[in-house]
Amino acid sequence: MYPLKRNRRLRANEAIRALVRETIISPNDFLVPLFVVEGKGVKDEIPSMPNYFRLSLDLLEKEVKELWALGLKSVLLFVKVDDTLKDNKGTEAINPNGLMQRAIKTVKNACPDMLVMTDVALDPYSIYGHDGIVENGMIINDESSEVLAQMALSHAVAGADFVAPSDMNDGRTLQIRTILEQENFKNTGIMAYTAKYASAFYGPFRDALDSAPVDLVDVPKDKKTYQMDYGNRLEAIRETLIDIEEGADIVMVKPGLCYLDIVRDIKNEVDVPVAVYQVSGEYAMLKAAAERGWLDHDAVMMEQVTSIKRAGADIIASYFAKDVVKLLS
Ligand code: PBG
Repeated sequence: MYPLKRNRRLRANEAIRALVRETIISPNDFLVPLFVVEGKGVKDEIPSMPNYFRLSLDLLEKEVKELWALGLKSVLLFVKVDDTLKDNKGTEAINPNGLMQRAIKTVKNACPDMLVMTDVALDPYSIYGHDGIVENGMIINDESSEVLAQMALSHAVAGADFVAPSDMNDGRTLQIRTILEQENFKNTGIMAYTAKYASAFYGPFRDALDSAPVDLVDVPKDKKTYQMDYGNRLEAIRETLIDIEEGADIVMVKPGLCYLDIVRDIKNEVDVPVAVYQVSGEYAMLKAAAERGWLDHDAVMMEQVTSIKRAGADIIASYFAKDVVKLLS
């Protein structure tokens, strides 16, 4: 007797494995998050994100040229603003000459074909570190969405190709789509964070932008009243269908690795591109383990990004993008 099926024939050597491999990673899969700060010649390493930096505009220019040369054609911008510019309403977020608005122009000037996406949420601008306006111990939904819509419009005016609301307020995608249409930014797209979970994996990001919720009476200590409960699966579908109805061109699941079941559920349900954000805590975990020699950095990194794509991601927002692409070439 012999085994009816010898599956090992298709694994016998690298040539046959390459021939039948179902999921292949390429530079086109990636969206590169970038952190921007004021100043000149500033390249600050984020302590909890080894080898990842906050960049001033001059070095941002250099960075995007380098990314472009590596074949990375899309960036997602975040800014760290000075404490003195923060308030409850995110006033600075809609400053036409604010750091984000200048960052968008900087990227477009340096690299006109680079796709520029921008984070739309109030937390980097909020004295309370929340994604919306805080009133009586709550994040008030509709008023917050109005500011977010203004913020999205100001990014479009500055030249953003896509705006990416990451706040999880109800109805904000529709508010943003409406204002963009009214103001004749028909071609500005929306990548909505649709299934964004209240996750402890965002810690290093909040260090990077100094955007963690503050510890004050009458201010919620966490984001659980707007970001999703990680015990929930069906809610992710509900959120996604609503965002698509409201005008999202791309939907997103966040974080990545712990949520790949959600990615597959959504991929099976909808016909728009699905993005996955492999977040700061996921980056930090691997960097820390690799620094100690406990994991093989490059091997685990490739396994992770391939798994995210295999689960159904059409787009991977990842701090590993540059590392991956360098490894591929
Ligand atoms: C802000 C925002 C966060 C991230 C992206 N946009 C943090 C948060 O919601 O607290 C996290 C990204 C990461 O951890 O890499 N709305």
